[in-house]
Amino acid sequence: MGSSISSCCGEEKVAQGFVGGGPESSTWRLFTYKELQAATNGFSEDYMLGEGGFGSVYWGKTNDGHQIAVKKLKAMNSKAEMEFAVEVEILGRVRHKNLLGLRGYCAGSDQRLIVYDYMPNLSLLSHLHGQFANDMRLDWKKRMNIVVGSAQGLVYLHHEATPHIIHRDIKASNVLLDSDFEPLVADFGFAKLIPDGVSHMTTRVKGTLGYLAPEYAMWGKVSESCDVYSYGILLLELISGRKPIERLPGGIKRTITEWAEPLITTGRLSDMVDPRLNGVFDSHELRRVLHAAARSVQSEPDRRPTMNQVLDIVLGASPGADPVRNSALRGSAPSSTGSSVLRISSIKYEEELMAMDDDNSNDGDNEYEEEEGERELTTSRSTGETERGDGGNHVRSVVRPMGVPRMQDNYGHYGGAGNRRTPPRG
Ligand SMILES: Nc1ncnc2c1ncn2[C@@H]1O[C@H](COP(=O)(O)OP(=O)(O)OP(=O)(O)O)[C@@H](O)[C@H]1O
Ligand SMILES: [Mg+2]
Repeated sequence: MGSSISSCCGEEKVAQGFVGGGPESSTWRLFTYKELQAATNGFSEDYMLGEGGFGSVYWGKTNDGHQIAVKKLKAMNSKAEMEFAVEVEILGRVRHKNLLGLRGYCAGSDQRLIVYDYMPNLSLLSHLHGQFANDMRLDWKKRMNIVVGSAQGLVYLHHEATPHIIHRDIKASNVLLDSDFEPLVADFGFAKLIPDGVSHMTTRVKGTLGYLAPEYAMWGKVSESCDVYSYGILLLELISGRKPIERLPGGIKRTITEWAEPLITTGRLSDMVDPRLNGVFDSHELRRVLHAAARSVQSEPDRRPTMNQVLDIVLGASPGADPVRNSALRGSAPSSTGSSVLRISSIKYEEELMAMDDDNSNDGDNEYEEEEGERELTTSRSTGETERGDGGNHVRSVVRPMGVPRMQDNYGHYGGAGNRRTPPRG
């Protein structure tokens, strides 16, 4: 990065570096608090783009007319500070067209703000489930571009950045869309840098319920394949327009893998496509994307492809990755051999975890964080409907201390004390 984050805001200290991603490449710099206050009309409610787990995001315009998004961390505690430091450190390292890089930051004695380029088409969440959900701005071509672009961003993080970076919070609200609907993966605040030669690390669990890989939710075992899992969930969401966790009539909740499993197993692929597309899609691309999704959400991390392989599958780049020749995704009729080649793992979170957001209307954007000795579930009520306007409403509920966090593992891959089985519902 080339500068210390402990000294700026208010001081006109000159510090800058390269900014990664974004429509144009340029440098990041330090901002003063005053400058950001002016740019956002005093952090006015009207300028608020949304609210996440760690603060509010405001639209703003700098003196030179550049549109920015300013993330203002709401709490100045050690966790928020660590979050800020990680985000700034990592943002300073990444340079890729599909990663939202740093435009600048401000770190005063009691304020932490991160400045990004403003993304005019907001997040993928806003188009799938939020304020643009009825506008159908995401046709099939745009969706495929998002599939490929966000995979390319992750390939960069996993395979090209040094050291490698695990994002740990891949989800629809963290895929932003520029004016051409080019996707930019955002929010590296949860990211983990992986030193060379390390295959996985054990860590506190952070992330969003619905996107969490089972081994990560249960054991805190984090590796690149946790991102692959979340990306697989994102693919299912993007193809179907469904939320990662849905509330069915009667209040029962169902994960998107539970919904997808029978459809993939019986080859009813076109039934999985978002009805808002009115049947306009490319069936070859659909097969490839569903093939990538099904493999990415395998419950065993070793059976998931790498992001490089995922990209090959969605692009149809390697013959071995072509589902038309190679797997159950061959046509719409059920295949007797296919289901053994390609089976989607249906993951169901433990009832106790699912029940934690019962008081909230939201059913797909639940942040989950494991602290030492306690389990914390953060639920966003807004799920993006309020990206511009009243902001999200994250609710934190800390439950009693317990050992490892648990998910139901329908295939019994993990076993152990943390894996209590509960009968499937619905
Ligand atoms: N650069 C940006 N341009 C446009 N909108 C943005 C930008 N950055 C964030 N947003 C929007 O602001 C909202 C809040 O973002 P934020 O990252 O704080 O929360 P989140 O993604 O919903 O949850 P999390 O805290 O887990 O990341 C999101 O809906 C996001 O799409
Ligand atoms: Mg975000």
